[in-house]
Amino acid sequence: MKLKKILIATTNKGKLREFKQLFENTGIEILSLEDMPERIEVEEDKETFLENAIKKAKKYGDFYKIPVIAEDAGLEVEALNNYPGVYSARFYSIDFGGKVEVKENKDKANIEKLLKLMKDKENRKARFVSVVVFYYPEEFGFWTEGYCYGEITDKPKGEKGFGYDPVFIPEGYSETMAELDPEEKNRISHRGKAVSKLMERLKKLMN
Ligand code: IMP
Repeated sequence: MKLKKILIATTNKGKLREFKQLFENTGIEILSLEDMPERIEVEEDKETFLENAIKKAKKYGDFYKIPVIAEDAGLEVEALNNYPGVYSARFYSIDFGGKVEVKENKDKANIEKLLKLMKDKENRKARFVSVVVFYYPEEFGFWTEGYCYGEITDKPKGEKGFGYDPVFIPEGYSETMAELDPEEKNRISHRGKAVSKLMERLKKLMN
């Protein structure tokens, strides 16, 4: 199998930046939905990360007819019955725990809601989950997953990364994910782990 280009099925700039870094030096060109001539909308309306990722990979792969990587990722917080989970991107707008108004941006609104719900919680344990699906249109597909365990802080700190990074301290660290350099985050993150497993599989397929 020859693999020159892969479409990363996302419009999330933070996510795309991390995928591009993870594929640096592989010789594979990374495209995003912004590079596509025509846009199609795919709703993430499934109950699991895997189902959402498969849905996106198949829809975009079959439409654009190029190999696709689709990821569905999120944060699971033990004290909140694993919420926000598949609702991570739009947690601020979900009824669970009350809706929060978007003032500056969605990431900040999500964090505001999470910290409100975690206010009196002693158990701060949480994990990031990444499920990554590779789909080669009409031929085959496979998926990998990665986890990053840690704790939720009581206030945001750090400017790097995206999403819930400013309120998540990875296990073994004293800084939040948003205080880590991008290379360090990619080394320990859920996404970094899922993508390195995916690359192992791709290397075997390309030989
Ligand atoms: P998705 O685009 O449906 O996969 O939604 C992912 C959402 O989960 C993002 O909008 C973030 O809120 C959160 N998320 C996923 N990965 C990360 C990460 O690496 N750091 C912080 N938040 C993340």
